[in-house]
Amino acid sequence: MTPILEVQGLGKRFGGLAALSDVSFTVAEGHITGLIGPNGAGKTTCFNLITGTLPPSSGAVLFRGEPVTGLPPHRIVGKGLARTFQAATTFPGATVRENILRGALLRHPLGLMQALLGGAQARRAEEAAARTAEDVMEALELTENADRIAGTLAYGHQKRLGVAIGLATQPSLLLLDEPAAGLNPDEVDRFAEILARLKERMGLSVLIVEHHMRLIMRLCDHIVVLDHGEKIAEGAPDAIRNDPKVIEAYLGAEHVE
Ligand SMILES: Nc1ncnc2c1ncn2[C@@H]1O[C@H](COP(=O)(O)OP(=O)(O)OP(=O)(O)O)[C@@H](O)[C@H]1O
Ligand SMILES: [Mg+2]
Repeated sequence: MTPILEVQGLGKRFGGLAALSDVSFTVAEGHITGLIGPNGAGKTTCFNLITGTLPPSSGAVLFRGEPVTGLPPHRIVGKGLARTFQAATTFPGATVRENILRGALLRHPLGLMQALLGGAQARRAEEAAARTAEDVMEALELTENADRIAGTLAYGHQKRLGVAIGLATQPSLLLLDEPAAGLNPDEVDRFAEILARLKERMGLSVLIVEHHMRLIMRLCDHIVVLDHGEKIAEGAPDAIRNDPKVIEAYLGAEHVE
């Protein structure tokens, strides 16, 4: 089976710094793949190259077997690959529902003429986006907060809203950059349950960057480990947990839960 995402020999230099060097891995369809490593290992840079936010210095990215390297980010979103950012990207003055609707309309934008002329087609597109928004709010347990102004939500809900906006673009692959950062242990568990359910029920494929090792080990089917811009290991959670190179570079004694 063609993997949903193939990263081939990806490299990125910032001046003299090799932030990412010759990194290759694949993401299998319907799987949750973890991308882990110490601060500065190159995880966010890797996301930026995959999503077209930054051009790679070398290598290629294939989405469903098709090269997407060099395409602008909105074209990549249109193909079904969405990301959430490490920092919050919500519109704080808009409601939860409005934020999620914006995500839904990114995937099915109203054409300019449709928007100007209105009519049945425009109405159908709007209705489809509204349904998507309701489904996504339900899945991320945000329905109760639909009419709240995003900026007034508790931190844990804001993080969830970031994921909801990405999900509303109806991606087949969702890239999450530290979605659980700053959450308390209960919120981390809640979030892990939500992600596991999205995978089970919707067959969503996920590539996730996280420092919460309990969440990573519990959720991931496969884990890729970066250190100083290089891939130092990949494998199933049990193999990664016990890999001496990974323990030395990242997990150490204090990280293992
Ligand atoms: N736009 C940039 N310009 C220059 N250097 C950068 C840029 N973005 C990242 N870097 C550098 O590249 C390296 C990798 O950074 P990156 O943000 O990818 O790490 P990370 O694995 O996501 O770390 P963290 O876990 O702290 O988020 C770091 O040394 C960082 O300082
Ligand atoms: Mg990062």
